[in-house]
Amino acid sequence: MPIQEKCRIQDHQKVGPRHFKLTLLSQYIASHAQPGQFVNVRCSDGSDPLLRRPISLHRINPEHGVFELLYEVVGKGTEMLTKYFVGEELDVLGPLGNGFSVDPKKKIHLMVGGGMGIAPLRALGESIKGGARYVFLGAKTKEALVCGEKCGEIADQIALATDDGTTGKKGLVSDILLDFIENQLTAYNLPLTAIYACGPRPMLKAIAEIAVQKKIDCQLSMEERMACGIGACKGCAIKTKDGFKMVCKDGPVFDAKEIVWN
Ligand SMILES: Cc1cc2nc3c(=O)[nH]c(=O)nc-3n(C[C@H](O)[C@H](O)[C@H](O)COP(=O)(O)OP(=O)(O)OC[C@H]3O[C@@H](n4cnc5c(N)ncnc54)[C@H](O)[C@@H]3O)c2cc1C
Ligand code: FES
Repeated sequence: MPIQEKCRIQDHQKVGPRHFKLTLLSQYIASHAQPGQFVNVRCSDGSDPLLRRPISLHRINPEHGVFELLYEVVGKGTEMLTKYFVGEELDVLGPLGNGFSVDPKKKIHLMVGGGMGIAPLRALGESIKGGARYVFLGAKTKEALVCGEKCGEIADQIALATDDGTTGKKGLVSDILLDFIENQLTAYNLPLTAIYACGPRPMLKAIAEIAVQKKIDCQLSMEERMACGIGACKGCAIKTKDGFKMVCKDGPVFDAKEIVWN
C-alpha cells in the first residue's frame, strides 16, 4: 500500500556527469518496497512542475529505514531535484507498482541494464540470495555508465557494452547477453536461468526476443511517461496479450511473453 510522505534527505551526491544519488529516510517505504518498484517524487515545493516524477528504488535498506534513488538530469523536474540539500524534505508517494519476483528455483540470474536501467538492478541484486548473479550493462559512453563498478557488489561477473566502445565491448548490451547465453550456458541450465532487464524499449524488445528464442524466463521493467502513477489517468497504457495494461499499476515489471511490441 503506497503512502504519501515527506521524506528527509540523508544524503545527496553527484555521481556522474548528470547523475545523482539521493538517500531518503522513510521507515515505511524502506520496509514495504520491493526491487523494481518505484516512487513518485514531487520535484519542487510549488506547483511547477505539477506532475510528480517516477524514479526506481535503487537500494532499499529496511534496517536503517532508508532508500536510495539514482537519477539522471534530463529536464525540468530532475534539474529541480538537484537543488535539494541534505536535511531538507521531499514529498514522495510510494512504494508504487509491481516489482521483480525472484523464483528460488532459478540458479542463474542475468540482470541487464541499459542507460539508467541500471537503477533498479542494485536493489534486485541485493535481494537475490542464492545462485550465480551476472550483470550486463550498456550505455552510450563510458561516462553514461554510472555506478557500474558498484555492481561488483551484487554480481559474480559484470560485462559492459558501450555504443562508442569507450569501455567494455563496442555494441549493444543485448549482443553481449546473447553471446554469454550461447557460449557460457548449456541446454541443461537454460530452464534454471532468469533474465531481469530495465532500459530503453528497443533494448527490452531485443532481450524479449532472445528470451523467447532461448526459452528463458524473463521479466522486463517497462518505462512509459507517467502522470498519476497510480492507475487513475490511463496515461501509461501499454499493449499486452491480455489487452492494455498500466505500467504504473500493473507494472512496471512484466513477463516478457506478455508484451505486444508493435
Ligand atoms: C517506472 C519508472 C522508473 C524510472 N526510474 C528512473 C530512475 O531510477 N532514474 C532516472 O533517472 N529516471 C527514471 N525514470 C525516468 C524519469 O521518470 C524521467 O527521466 C523523469 O520523469 C524526467 O523528468 P524531467 O522533468 O526531468 O524531464 P521532462 O522535462 O519531463 O522530460 C525530459 C526528456 O525526458 C523524456 N522522458 C521523461 N520521462 C520519461 C519516461 N518516463 N520515459 C522515457 N522518456 C522520458 C522526455 O520525453 C523528454 O525528452 C523512470 C521512469 C519510470 C516510468
Ligand atoms: S500514470 Fe496514470 S495510469 Fe499510469
